[in-house]
Amino acid sequence: MINNTNIVMGIETSCDETSIAILEGENKLLSNIISSQMEIHEKYGGIVPEIASRKHMELIMITCKEALEQANINLTDVNGIAVVPGPGLKGSLLVGLSFGKAIAYALKKPLIGVNHIEGHIFANFINNNKIEYPFISLIVSGGHTLLMLVDNIGKYRIIGSTRDDAAGEVLDKISKYLNLGYPGGPAIERLAETGRESSIYFPRPLFYSNDYDFSFSGLKTAVINFVINKNMLREKIDINNLCASFQMAIIDTLKHKAISAARKFNIPRIVLGGGVTANQKLRNELLKEASKYGIEIFYPPKNLCTDNGAMIACAGYHKLKAGLIETFDLEVFTK
Ligand code: KG4
Ligand code: ZN
Repeated sequence: MINNTNIVMGIETSCDETSIAILEGENKLLSNIISSQMEIHEKYGGIVPEIASRKHMELIMITCKEALEQANINLTDVNGIAVVPGPGLKGSLLVGLSFGKAIAYALKKPLIGVNHIEGHIFANFINNNKIEYPFISLIVSGGHTLLMLVDNIGKYRIIGSTRDDAAGEVLDKISKYLNLGYPGGPAIERLAETGRESSIYFPRPLFYSNDYDFSFSGLKTAVINFVINKNMLREKIDINNLCASFQMAIIDTLKHKAISAARKFNIPRIVLGGGVTANQKLRNELLKEASKYGIEIFYPPKNLCTDNGAMIACAGYHKLKAGLIETFDLEVFTK
């Protein structure tokens, strides 16, 4: 029996992972069960929203039971329920939100709403409580590419975002186009390891714009046109060189904008989050560039970069401590 008033359950169902975690205090992760639907969506080369929500329905009870068992606690030991109202896929979000509301209502425990992006930021705090406010946050996932100024818990200012596709979305789409599988980011990263990043020049849209916005859809078109041209000329494509050059075009832009923001706002720390920040090359490039300006880079362990319940529980813990709780009127939002 645990005598602690700080046990938070984190529920994440915004996309294609059904995940529930139990966190004790700020750092003690008792369980983090991720029931991935990757294999199902892989067949289609991307996420099918209707299938995703049905799968969440099938998996949520089992995932919850497993999370409690592994944490070795009872449901009644939980002191707060953190759920994600958005952004994400409506049907998927509804499953997690309704499930969380039902538990909170039955247990008479606080319901905490965690924005999915906020969750990605707080994935950093599970293993590191030395990150000082304010910080710049670079969130790069399948759905978002965002630069934020974080003043404190609940105090976020978006300073830049993508004007079209998210970086992860472009990685996934090009991977599908090249028949490299889903998710695209890890597949492209693996192939890029033995490629030459300077072998093909791909554009870096908005690189020199005087803001912190991104644009990746032109890059996607450039890669597709490159492949079409090579095929028309019956020239062989070196897939490793292609992946390395394409990946570098994304990394260059992310690195340039994030470091520029940290310098402009005079904030010497950048906190990474989202699936794409699991990319080792991106991390290395950022670390190298940041060290020139005395900027610190923080990132979560790789398994906590992609969607998971632990990051929701962690943000939930901090919000609960700050008294930021929700009523049962909390509704889903997609964007
Ligand atoms: O954060 P996440 O799990 O889901 C969203 O909130 O969208 O991010 C998924 C994205 C996918 O686009 C996937 O291709 C990308 O993260 N990703 C990576 C890596 N691992 C996952 N991109 C680049 N390198 C990786 N190692
Ligand atoms: Zn995510």
